[in-house]
Formats: sequence, C-alpha cells, structure tokens
Amino acid sequence: MDDGKLVELAFEAREHAYTPYSHWAVGAALLCADGTVYQGCNIENAAYTPSNCAERTAFFKAVYDGERDFEAIAVVGGPEGQPAPEICAPCGVCRQVMMEFCDPASFRIVLGCSDGEPRVYLLRELLPEGFGPDNLRLS
Ligand code: THU
Repeated sequence: MDDGKLVELAFEAREHAYTPYSHWAVGAALLCADGTVYQGCNIENAAYTPSNCAERTAFFKAVYDGERDFEAIAVVGGPEGQPAPEICAPCGVCRQVMMEFCDPASFRIVLGCSDGEPRVYLLRELLPEGFGPDNLRLS
C-alpha cells in the first residue's frame, strides 16, 4: 500500500475521534506486514489521564487481533471539524509503544496533512536510542 492511501485511511479514522476536551482530532492507519490496516482515533476522557491517542488505539486493536509485525503508520491531526494543514507528530508515549512492537530501523511514520506531501520518518529518527525489548534481553 502506498503512503497516499495510508494517509487517506488515517483521515477516515480521524472522523471517529472523540475529543470533547481538546477539540484536537487525530486519526491513524497502521499497516501490518500481511497488508491489513488498523485504524485508530484519539478517545478522550473527563478525567484526562485515561485519554488514548489515535496511534495507540490502532496498535492496541491490532495487537489484540494477534498482529505483531508492522511496517508503517500514517498519522493526521488538527482542530476538530477542520482540515489538517500541518503535520501532527506522535507523542512520546506513542513512540514508546511503537518501540515495543516495531523495528526502529525500518518502521516508517508517515505524517500526513491536508496540504502537501506527507513527511516520512523512521522510528529511530523520532525516538533515537529508544529503550525496547532487545535491551531487556541483554541481561
Ligand atoms: N493526540 C493523538 O491522538 N496523537 C498525537 O500524535 C498527538 C496527540 C491526541 C491526544 C489528545 O486527545 C489530543 O490529541 C490533544 O493532545
């Protein structure tokens, strides 16, 4: 699947966002090695802390279904009910969740927006020297 299609699926996911507090709607589309795509949106909570980002919603859906092999994630975000002209980069917690399941040297993070081409990063660029399962296997 090309990056453009993945961004389109992230925009579709963004329509599902539940954002009564921040009014910042995010969508994600996570591409698995077998070609399956899991979509996620941010889901907020009146107590704030239990809120879940779009990226983690997509990962947790996929992992629940038994997926363990991931190639890329597209993310789009911006003010609810409006286009998303700027990129929306994943928060630190989501980068850490990606580190749990993805190879930082090959997992691609595609940051889309409504105006212009997506910006594409490897996980290792957005989370340099990340701590992951391999670190624990050394002991
Ligand atoms: N958010 C995401 O879902 N993903 C990101 O990449 C950045 C932030 C959400 C969390 C919260 O619901 C809202 O955006 C404002 O921070």
